[in-house]
Amino acid sequence: MDDAGMDGRHSIGDDSAVVSGDDAIDPPESFRDRAVASDAGVYETFEREGPEAWRRAADLLDWERPYETVLDDDDPPFYEWFPEGRLNAAANCVDRHLDHRRNQLAIRWFGKRGERRSYTYLDLHREMNALAAGLRDLGVGEDDVVTLYLPMIPELPIAMLACARIGAPHNVVFAGLSAEALATRIDAADSEYLITCDGYYRREDAFNQKSKADNARLRIDGDLRQTVVVDRLGDALDVSLGDDEHAYESVVDAHDGETVEPVARDATDLLFVMYTSGTTGQPKGVEHATGGYLSQVAWTTRNVLDVRPDDTYWCAADIGWITGHSYGVYGPLALGTTTVLYEGSPDYPDRDRVWDLIERNAVSVFYTSPTAIRSFMKWGSEYPDAHDLSSIRLLGTVGESITPKAWRWYREHVGGDDVPVVDTWWQTETGAIALATLPGISPMKPGTVGPPLPGIDARVVDEDGDPVDPGEPGYLTIAAPWPGMLRGLREGDERYRREYWLEGDDGWRYRTGDGATVDEDGYITILGRVDDVINVRAHRFNTAELESAIVETDGVTEAAVVGDNDGQIVAYVTTRSGVDTDDPLREAISERLARSVGDVARPDRIVFTPELPKTRSGKIMRRLLEDIARGEEFGDVSALRNPEVVGEIESTVRET
Ligand code: WT7
Repeated sequence: MDDAGMDGRHSIGDDSAVVSGDDAIDPPESFRDRAVASDAGVYETFEREGPEAWRRAADLLDWERPYETVLDDDDPPFYEWFPEGRLNAAANCVDRHLDHRRNQLAIRWFGKRGERRSYTYLDLHREMNALAAGLRDLGVGEDDVVTLYLPMIPELPIAMLACARIGAPHNVVFAGLSAEALATRIDAADSEYLITCDGYYRREDAFNQKSKADNARLRIDGDLRQTVVVDRLGDALDVSLGDDEHAYESVVDAHDGETVEPVARDATDLLFVMYTSGTTGQPKGVEHATGGYLSQVAWTTRNVLDVRPDDTYWCAADIGWITGHSYGVYGPLALGTTTVLYEGSPDYPDRDRVWDLIERNAVSVFYTSPTAIRSFMKWGSEYPDAHDLSSIRLLGTVGESITPKAWRWYREHVGGDDVPVVDTWWQTETGAIALATLPGISPMKPGTVGPPLPGIDARVVDEDGDPVDPGEPGYLTIAAPWPGMLRGLREGDERYRREYWLEGDDGWRYRTGDGATVDEDGYITILGRVDDVINVRAHRFNTAELESAIVETDGVTEAAVVGDNDGQIVAYVTTRSGVDTDDPLREAISERLARSVGDVARPDRIVFTPELPKTRSGKIMRRLLEDIARGEEFGDVSALRNPEVVGEIESTVRET
């Protein structure tokens, strides 16, 4: 493991001192009285029963064939959850709700242009079935991977469910990623089917998504057999379709009213693959199994986010990432609730758009990221204060550490100061929430994420795998398997084992890649990544992935990328001598990143420097550059090969 970040300098913001027990806030009484999870005995129950306790999660689902074993751990770290069980995820998310609530809204969609569409569970059932029949007709069979490259429109969750129904794993690629990134993911997943759209609106402009998909197609090594194209823009953009390209609408119309028997999948069968950044420049294909994933997602949606069928719930994350998969689609639909799907940005047409949507829909549970909360704070409390947000009874946050200050702002201005705010820690790989307070049971400590959930054996350990003392920085690891865990990597068993697992004297340990501290009460504070992954703007990148794109720009020699306190991307760049470090070069670097990775990777700041600070062995001191970008104190730099550049870089950063 890399030791970077283990020096304890890595704070989570200026007001981020680990809070003492005195700062703990008890769950509000009014909430506790009605909470799904209100019995503190649940922790002890999980401890006593071990993996068997996770039956409670599996029992939230309907099984086609019941499982006998809860956990098969014969061949660690290849764990199998509920192995004999068979189930279908789409049937669990849609069909089983038809008896009781077929006319209840499943999805309320709000488009960028103020459009609205609503789907009842019956509507969802009908369209999902028509699409499932259409996909079959196009040749999609069980275990064929279907790539979905769609913005936040209802067709995205519908396509996920249609795939799940016929046992075809989906591979959702965030719509903002570039053609190159899409091509890599299509090839890496061995996917021969694609569902995309003509385009979508970005603010006022119609943006052509199909041309990106066409471009990707030219780059792939494999073969795309069939493509389905959703007409999002109508007359605003006409795209022509080739022989093996089909309008979504005609596929669905041709099969309207048909039903497709949900394919019973083994619990361990692949539900989806999701590419994410790892410790190398190449993204990893994280594989999630049907039974364990859906069980823990349903359990946490219910017990951590306290969602029930009569809620209107809104997870503001994009479905193109894991949060949107687990808590925008599978969790809420498995529980039969109403979920809000929003295509637009939070400040369009105005900065009160989010509060307007919460008021309009009487949203009761709202889940977003610290990045978003920081923007809301910056824009000002007058925006939420001008709306009736009294429908809110729980707030959640995910993706990075939230400072106590942001936590309190969120609770006061969005939650009316009387609701639980649940900070949830998890990862693409964990599939579902792993650390969080149980909102009806555990006190909250702003700025710390909270204790591990019942059944999650998370530990903060030192280099040797021994638990660290309270307050001491260590590595966050998980010492026992959990149902939502990835079942493997697309890149194979060896990579999976190497990337995540350590075998110790007392068994296998999952490495999260995060540094953390733990306090006397067992509350964990996340210090940030200890590997080469950065989390910025609610996206996860590998530094090498971004840096290798930057150095492909003409004139650039070296680059180091870090994240700053505002979740922004800062790129330090050296150039060939004589190259003008002026605006055209900045633009060229930005364009290069947009092309290789996507618009989300455009840097917020580019700092040109004659040299990058390096150790004597030639390793770039990224951690030091991060401290500089964050305006933080840094230690002695005299051991560097080129300590003199540090002052220069610092003054350049201050000027930009
Ligand atoms: C990384 C995982 C699944 C959530 C969305 C991101 C960081 C996540 C928290 C939190 C501090 C957090 C970690 C983790 N992270 N939640 N509550 N507090 N840090 O998923 O893209 O797989 O990134 O996000 O560093 O390792 P992801």
